[in-house]
Amino acid sequence: MNTQILFDDGHHRWLAMVRDPDRPESVIDTNEYLIVSEDEALLLDPGGTEIFPAVLREISRHIRIEQIRAFFASHQDPDIFSSLPLWLGLRPDAKIYIPWMWRGFLAHYGYDYVSNFVDVPDEGGTLRIGTRGREVQIVPAHFCHSPGNFSLYDPSAKILFSGDIGAALLPEDKQGLFVKDFDQHVTYMRGFHVRWMPSNDAKNAWIRRVRKLDIDFLCPQHGAIFKGADVGRFLDWFEQLEVGQHKALAQN
Ligand SMILES: [Fe+2]
Ligand SMILES: [Fe+2]
Repeated sequence: MNTQILFDDGHHRWLAMVRDPDRPESVIDTNEYLIVSEDEALLLDPGGTEIFPAVLREISRHIRIEQIRAFFASHQDPDIFSSLPLWLGLRPDAKIYIPWMWRGFLAHYGYDYVSNFVDVPDEGGTLRIGTRGREVQIVPAHFCHSPGNFSLYDPSAKILFSGDIGAALLPEDKQGLFVKDFDQHVTYMRGFHVRWMPSNDAKNAWIRRVRKLDIDFLCPQHGAIFKGADVGRFLDWFEQLEVGQHKALAQN
């Protein structure tokens, strides 16, 4: 697996773990992000069971696993956190921040650990990590694509973790960490957004919300990261996109 450091001010770091070469072809490629603040770490959308050994191995190269204090699940999908019981087996005291409405569903991944769940209300909230108490913001992203869905913004690092928003399925010869040619990149993400995002109103509400944030990196759970001017390009593109479309709808 390839790990890149997106931000490091000496106390607070963002690690992106991407492109596991051992991933079975039958599962979707996912990006895992780790925020390390002083002595504590928060793992975002830890991934499916199949990628757990690779993510664990990679994280162990940078921190002690005991430093992971909490996990964040943007929504309920298996590629987000079917590895829950494996991680909680190692970190049985860690908290798991989840959209409140998915509690009963996420319990199917690890009912022994429901007491670790922290329900995030629809309006989102904040959480603090590390001895300096760096604050990160949990930003509503409902219906993008899940009806209970959050992004996570870190004002210290100016990084927005966007979950499935901005996701792309990259061809074998375009596996770079960052978006290089935005117009070409659109072809790798358009189909996903049109089909999987059900509501124009919801995605436009999310765009209005995140336009108020100062973002250097917009980091999706699949595909390449948007950096600098490509963050604005993505928001402009997403704003004009008509989502919730599929030819199957027109046939009825
Ligand atoms: Fe998803
Ligand atoms: Fe996903």
